[in-house]
Amino acid sequence: MSVHVLDAMAREGFEELLALHDRRSGLRAFLAIHDTVRGPAFGGIRRWGYRSERDALGDCLRLARAMTYKCALADLPAGGAKLVVLDREDVDWPAAYSYLGEVVERMGGRFYTGPDVGTGPVELASMSARTRFVTDPGPEGPGELAESTAEGVFRGIEACLEHLDGEADWSRRRIVVQGLGAVGGNLARRLAEKGARVLGADLDPQRAEKLCAELEIECLDPARAIDTPCDVFAPCALGGVIHDVTLNRLDTRIVAGGANNVLAKALHGDRLHERGVLVAPDFVQSSGALIRGTFFHLEGRRVPVHEIGERIKAVVRSVLERARAEDAPPPRIAVREAEERIAAWRRS
Ligand code: NAI
Repeated sequence: MSVHVLDAMAREGFEELLALHDRRSGLRAFLAIHDTVRGPAFGGIRRWGYRSERDALGDCLRLARAMTYKCALADLPAGGAKLVVLDREDVDWPAAYSYLGEVVERMGGRFYTGPDVGTGPVELASMSARTRFVTDPGPEGPGELAESTAEGVFRGIEACLEHLDGEADWSRRRIVVQGLGAVGGNLARRLAEKGARVLGADLDPQRAEKLCAELEIECLDPARAIDTPCDVFAPCALGGVIHDVTLNRLDTRIVAGGANNVLAKALHGDRLHERGVLVAPDFVQSSGALIRGTFFHLEGRRVPVHEIGERIKAVVRSVLERARAEDAPPPRIAVREAEERIAAWRRS
């Protein structure tokens, strides 16, 4: 491991990084713990076909840190972590997830994990036979995680529309949802029920066609999602979708979705702010599942989905107001506020 990794960890306040290789299953993964000052670290398992180990490690560190920011702004007694698994053909996946269960159990409650892109109920069920510190996908678990996230994103979009226009007025809105999986699909349903004109896009054509037909929404070619004119662009697929190339193709008034780390760089948020595009703070919007999971694991309580939505809307609104008062991009304000809170935890 290069010494630059340790420099980056020190600069950004990481506590621990594990590089995992399981001889039996062939699994390769990284586990980053960003912060446990306020409580155990929470973070899901992302399994993705990264182009390189370096990309996987970078994603792992970014996502773990974003989880701490989420905890800080949601005022949770927890910190951030992430487990990133390299998706490869020669892995025995049931054995790999069993092994991950053992790794998580050995950490003794310092790290709680759950679903993310590429890791769903089947994988979690095989882990929960090995550890107490994983989200049980069955009736014994917290339930409604993706619904909690989608509700937070939905209420966050509502806060953005009210912030710009004084009202949500759904029936006048054209909203592009990029990614129609657990979060995007749920969000599209909520928006369609409110009467918004929803355009959905997914790389998986069967998933897209099925959901669009069911919700009676327009199906978009995923390659066109970014430049289709709309009031709200809701990225609910992977992070980093707004970068040097896509930035100038966006034709929207608001960017507000559920994907983590939507902006490839903070500078892209600044450019959008200069163009008058409102960018919602993504790590606030997508904190629904974290809120639900943290309360469930630490207090044994299932916070109702609508309460989670209310809570997230209030935080999004306060970030937007502070951003307006300072004429600053909302993502910068959210990061600053999170960093102030994290620094205060660490001082105390
Ligand atoms: P998922 O795996 O259920 O769905 C993602 C969907 O996006 C898939 O259908 C995939 O085909 C599609 N997709 C990938 N790249 C695409 C592209 N370029 N264009 C169009 N579609 C694309 O994942 P899930 O759970 O819905 O998560 C979505 C995002 O929300 C991720 O970034 C995740 O980290 C974030 N998130 C999810 C939470 C949850 O509760 N599930 C909690 C917080 C964040």
